[in-house]
Amino acid sequence: MAIRLGDVAPDFTVDTTQGEISFHNWLGESWGILFSHPADYTPVCTTELGAVAKLKDEFEKRNVKPIAISVDPLADHKEWIKDINETQNTNVNFPIIADPDKKVAVLYDMIHPNASEKATVRSVFIIGPDKKVKLTLTYPASTGRNFDELLRVIDSLQLTAYHSVATPANWEDGDDCVIVPSVTNEEIPEKFPKGHTVIKPYLRMTPQPNK
Ligand code: BEZ
Repeated sequence: MAIRLGDVAPDFTVDTTQGEISFHNWLGESWGILFSHPADYTPVCTTELGAVAKLKDEFEKRNVKPIAISVDPLADHKEWIKDINETQNTNVNFPIIADPDKKVAVLYDMIHPNASEKATVRSVFIIGPDKKVKLTLTYPASTGRNFDELLRVIDSLQLTAYHSVATPANWEDGDDCVIVPSVTNEEIPEKFPKGHTVIKPYLRMTPQPNK
């Protein structure tokens, strides 16, 4: 069955390019981003894994651990990393799961048979420190993902996890936020001392609380 938002991310133990990993233990208190790619030694995937490696500091700043997966064997991952490092001018610094028996791919419903019988699609799961799934996303093999957008979602998730706000369309870190409907007008001054604007009774904006 498909994994839905709010589900506990299924746990597993697998071989990776950084040794055997038990997923939940490996996550620890961190957030996680688990993302699948169709195959090693393919052009779009090469650029994607290079892009994630270059965002190391951004992920660390947000306490997020990235981990990639495909159904290729470990030996292929290890050889391919050399190409990624060379062609993308980076250093792949996160684990890549080897899943040749498709154990994790099936567990996370990453194989969509009408797209490909054999390979994983481009899935993304963002997982919170509570091990619950906060975002799922599926891209086709031919479209490389926008990892800056995933960082933006993480910023929103982390903000809304700790403050009674949501983030509007095209929000970027530092922009005004939406006060969630469960906050009453009477509660606003104490909760949002930076001020607020009532555009409609259901549309109330406030400066980003943690800036
Ligand atoms: C790629 O990563 O370049 C790719 C993989 C599968 C299908 C199309 C493109």
